[in-house]
Amino acid sequence: MNAAKFPEHFLWGCATSSFQIEGATTRDGRHPSIWDTFCSYPGKVADGATGDVACDHYHRMEEDVALMKQLGIDIYRFSISWPRVLTMDGELNRQGIDFYKRLLAVLKRNGIKACATLFHWDLPQHLQDIGGWTNREVVAEFVNYAEKMFRELDDDVHQWITINEPSVISVLGYINGIHAPGIRDLKKAMRVSHHLMVAHALAVRKYRELGLTGEIGITLNFNHYEPYDKANPNDVIVSNRMDALWNRQYLDLLFRAQYPEDLLAWLAEKDAVPEMEEGDLQLISEKIDFLGVNYYSRNKQKYDPEQDGILETYTCNDSDANVNALNWEVYPKGLYYEIVRVHEQYRQLPVYITENGGAFTDDVLSQDGQVHDWQRIDYLQSHFAEAKKMIDDGVDLRGYYVWSLLDNFEWHMGYGPRFGLFYVDYDSQERIWKDSAIWYKAFIHDQKAT
Ligand code: FCB
Repeated sequence: MNAAKFPEHFLWGCATSSFQIEGATTRDGRHPSIWDTFCSYPGKVADGATGDVACDHYHRMEEDVALMKQLGIDIYRFSISWPRVLTMDGELNRQGIDFYKRLLAVLKRNGIKACATLFHWDLPQHLQDIGGWTNREVVAEFVNYAEKMFRELDDDVHQWITINEPSVISVLGYINGIHAPGIRDLKKAMRVSHHLMVAHALAVRKYRELGLTGEIGITLNFNHYEPYDKANPNDVIVSNRMDALWNRQYLDLLFRAQYPEDLLAWLAEKDAVPEMEEGDLQLISEKIDFLGVNYYSRNKQKYDPEQDGILETYTCNDSDANVNALNWEVYPKGLYYEIVRVHEQYRQLPVYITENGGAFTDDVLSQDGQVHDWQRIDYLQSHFAEAKKMIDDGVDLRGYYVWSLLDNFEWHMGYGPRFGLFYVDYDSQERIWKDSAIWYKAFIHDQKAT
């Protein structure tokens, strides 16, 4: 095998999520999600952007699958919009589910496998009105939703992901409040993350009970944390704390049926240890078929008690750090370290990189009508190399999804950052091949060549 060649059945893909691309937020019975609400609050999302149109993928799905086909990807990761497919009474909305049935049929016709994420943040607003994920009743609502999706769609889904990034939901949604629902309360954040993990596990259990035999897992976001100044004990403390809160919390729960001790000690000080029901920890460690990993950056943490009153820290790059357009440090080795840590310290199980990518300063349409985004090519190339290295070192890495197929709605940052392989002209909805898309196509082609 050529050193640069990935294993034969390795899956190359792209990822998106429902709210970020679909638009059509009031079509065919869809009701509001917490992100529709959040967008309607002045000042929460850059430029007052909304998901009302986004990439209009709801109406341009076939055209977008045609791009995937031309790109040559093996698998496409999308998420299902809960408020689109279920009515407020928790019954199936036929028109909503039909969209995903058509998507799956078109993918199949084009020989592209499907990876479906059940929850990529667009919680139905009426469930937020009863407390959202802080309310354990929402867990049962999620399991009802998951069961209906399994029954309707499993035949054409290659792999299922229960929840996308519980850390982001709890920290950005409930600690610093920059994401929907925009709350700042550590105790609530911990309830939310506990309930997300219970919901995940019950959905996995439901999947097995139904006798379905596909793959099911969860996607975690890993940041690679380091102290900004290794000689400063406070920077060391906050870096370890962020690692516990953001990364190890979920690894310990999934693979050791416990919360990390250092995290519990800090939460106890803050009176924020989540309430648990008997058996929860055992339940949460329910066996999964694979771990999904989203990785973007290294975070050097600086201690700052003034920061937000809760976390007492912020990410501070070295002045000479290589950063992307959002000031996220480009640090490919972090991908290797974080996944190898799972392999060495937690469990050896199949892993998929379910998101990796960036938004760069050269994501601009040039005079020649093209997008010469060499920074993305460089980013992907260097991260692919780390992926190859971990495989050589024994990690059972089975696939890689680039974030993202299209430029799209980047949450509180609106349409400014452009993470796509395809540039989207939001006025005309034209999709333009960036140089990175052309490069990725050639890369995949080379991987398949014998
Ligand atoms: C991840 C999200 C994804 C996208 C990327 C840039 O945390 O899962 O929706 O916003 O970041």
